[in-house]
Amino acid sequence: MTVIASALDPADAEYAEHRAAMLEKLAVLGAEQAKALQGGGEKYVQRHRKRGKLLARERIELLLDPDTPFLELSPLAAWGSDCPVGASMVTGIGVVEGVECLITANDPTVRGGASNPWTLKKAFRAHEIGHANRLPSIHLVESGGADLPSQKEIFIPGGALFKHLTRSSAAGVPTIAVVFGNSTAGGAYVPGMSDHVIMVKERAKVFLGGPPLVRMATGEESDDESLGGAEMHARTSGLADHLAEDEHDALRRTRRVVARLNWRKAYADPDPLTVRPPKYDEDELLGIVPDDLKKPFDPREVVARIVDGSDFDEFKPLYGTSLVTGWAELHGYPLGILANAQGVLFSEESQKAAQFIQLANQRDIPLLFLHNTTGYMVGKEYEQGGIIKHGAMMINAVSNSKVPHLSVLMGASYGAGHYGMCGRAYDPRFLFAWPSAKSAVMGPQQLAGVLSIVARQSAAAKGQPYDDEADAALREMVERQIEAESLPMFLSGRLYDDGVIDPRDTRTVLGLCLSAIHTAPFEGARGGFGVFRM
Ligand code: COA
Repeated sequence: MTVIASALDPADAEYAEHRAAMLEKLAVLGAEQAKALQGGGEKYVQRHRKRGKLLARERIELLLDPDTPFLELSPLAAWGSDCPVGASMVTGIGVVEGVECLITANDPTVRGGASNPWTLKKAFRAHEIGHANRLPSIHLVESGGADLPSQKEIFIPGGALFKHLTRSSAAGVPTIAVVFGNSTAGGAYVPGMSDHVIMVKERAKVFLGGPPLVRMATGEESDDESLGGAEMHARTSGLADHLAEDEHDALRRTRRVVARLNWRKAYADPDPLTVRPPKYDEDELLGIVPDDLKKPFDPREVVARIVDGSDFDEFKPLYGTSLVTGWAELHGYPLGILANAQGVLFSEESQKAAQFIQLANQRDIPLLFLHNTTGYMVGKEYEQGGIIKHGAMMINAVSNSKVPHLSVLMGASYGAGHYGMCGRAYDPRFLFAWPSAKSAVMGPQQLAGVLSIVARQSAAAKGQPYDDEADAALREMVERQIEAESLPMFLSGRLYDDGVIDPRDTRTVLGLCLSAIHTAPFEGARGGFGVFRM
């Protein structure tokens, strides 16, 4: 029997406690996500509607096939910064005429849809996802261009947006620009670099320089329409392939363009009729992770609620037991899973992981990393036992693995454990966090403690007295700062993940990611790993 036997008891007091804590975190998260949905706020939304325009999310909704999901990416981008939550852009993956597409949409209710440094980061991440997974991209454009006060942060790096578009086209991945309003100056290169361009009549404005700039530069008198109107671009310059009557017509034409792309995924989708749901209720994912991450939990309880039939063939279950590894299917896609059990990674776990990752590469099986780790074990015994070289083996395997990786931060993701488990810097195709996740170089108490020891030693070396009272205050302040910087909303705001998700949605989200991943062909690394230091 390889079906996981769950030991989780929903009638248990601990379960209820974990569930209540998770629901509380979800409520806080919901309130922050609502801010992104509000865009530029009531005043700007009303003004936009009065102009007879659709909101960014409405445009996306009308573009997508009815009753299909939209996997929104980075909805909390810019959280904790001076810029509005959501970064004046909506990005995600949705299905248009049966084709999974990467979609970006400027939010013109937020500072005229202008791009600030976070918008840029969000757009880059969307492009990266589109490129890695070979997803045709659709850009719903209406933007005031660079956010002028922060131009120094965006002007120079921002040029890469246009490079990404043309490289996508060169790689044979279609790009479509739909212009609903302003797309001037640098923004003009979004339609300029795209394979297909649709412009909305009397609304689209695409020029390198508007009438005032032209007057300054050459003295020529002109108007918006003759310089960059949709009609002019459709009839005279040829930049527009389609002249749409209105926004609805533009979205309808976009769907027709996608329908004619003759786009085929690299792999056939699994037959949904043969996919078995997990044996256990996904709702129970709320009651697994303790509020106090120092308490361990069994990640098999999570696996049991996300994989097909809760069926899991464990690899080396008796060896390196602090890391659970094994094979499963998720929505019909084969998957290798690495999940932290007791938090700490020892030499055995690291070697087990390296072997497992090599096996997945030999078999072309994507990998899922479920994080709850405080990092690699420290201490004399472990250093002498070679923890550095064993951890390095795992990091080597993760870095040089060529099968697609997915990461989900369920709990702790600290130190080099974050790296070994395919953290952000190791390019997982997608990385999501649960509201219970925390990630930092180490735990807040440990970090504050280390700082305090270092300061004490430094004072002693200089022969100075050490102020214990000031030390206690400093430790408390540092602990609070690190705790705040470890939280998923903060990390998501900085684009260190692709979104914070409700644990109950994990199977659905990973299924959508796996489907997107199977658009592009992939092959595991048969060799090509770095030198494994033995
Ligand atoms: N940078 C920073 N703020 C901008 C901005 C930009 N590029 N574009 C617009 N904003 C701000 C406006 O100052 C305004 O702020 P406020 O409401 O606090 O006064 C808010 O966004 C809305 O702009 P508004 O002009 O009222 O909206 P609109 O829908 O009528 O017009 C634009 C939108 C984009 C057509 C118009 O704002 C515009 O032409 N902006 C400048 C475009 C430009 O030249 N960009 C440089 C390209 S590199």
